[in-house]
Amino acid sequence: MNPLKSVNGAIITSLLLMAALGFALGGSGFSVQNLDRWLHIASGVTWIGLLYYFNVVQVPALAAAAADKGGPGAAGISKYVAPRALLWFRWAAVVTALSGVILIEFAFRPAGGGFMQVMALKDGFQIIGIGSWLGLIMLFNVWVLIWPNQKKVLGITPATDEQKATARNVALLASRTNFVLSLPMLMCMTGQSHGLPF
Ligand code: HEM
Repeated sequence: MNPLKSVNGAIITSLLLMAALGFALGGSGFSVQNLDRWLHIASGVTWIGLLYYFNVVQVPALAAAAADKGGPGAAGISKYVAPRALLWFRWAAVVTALSGVILIEFAFRPAGGGFMQVMALKDGFQIIGIGSWLGLIMLFNVWVLIWPNQKKVLGITPATDEQKATARNVALLASRTNFVLSLPMLMCMTGQSHGLPF
């Protein structure tokens, strides 16, 4: 059986390859902190990758499908693609934020920067503090503005046509806001320990 023929098989193969490569490279001993950092980056890439997919691919594609009278329409995307993408999107956001908060405790608590101090932008922790604020605002947008409104748009929760139009607009603006915040957020994530690019 070829593992590349199923998504689960591909995920497991990638994890095994990663572990084998880690051991082959000599490893640095098991560390929960490094495992958490890895989880943070993997889930963050999944979350933000899907955010970019929604903004750069799906939203323009749905607009093109709506404008294409006589074309195949957008029903397939709304029924089969969007709910699946939103499932990975919203839970990847949770894993990213949780692993990020845990990472604050691991990486900065010993230097006097626990979660509260980082969020209060204590001296020496401003860059990661601002990055964490941006990330947590984005998490709020996902769960409070995007997902409940997308549920109305996709018909998962009942809504009139007028309510759907409002929901579509709120979800779109929240998603665009996250898109705009994403690059500054990423700059701060990497900037705390590796320096800012400017
Ligand atoms: C949601 C709230 C978030 C919090 C609280 C948070 C927290 C953190 C912390 C504490 C670090 C370690 C910084 C260091 O060791 O210098 C970090 C690094 C990082 N984060 Fe986040 N993060 C969040 C969201 C995200 C998101 C959405 C992404 C998207 C990909 C992301 C990607 C990264 C990357 C790439 C690093 C660099 C790791 C390194 O240089 O070692 N983070 N984050």
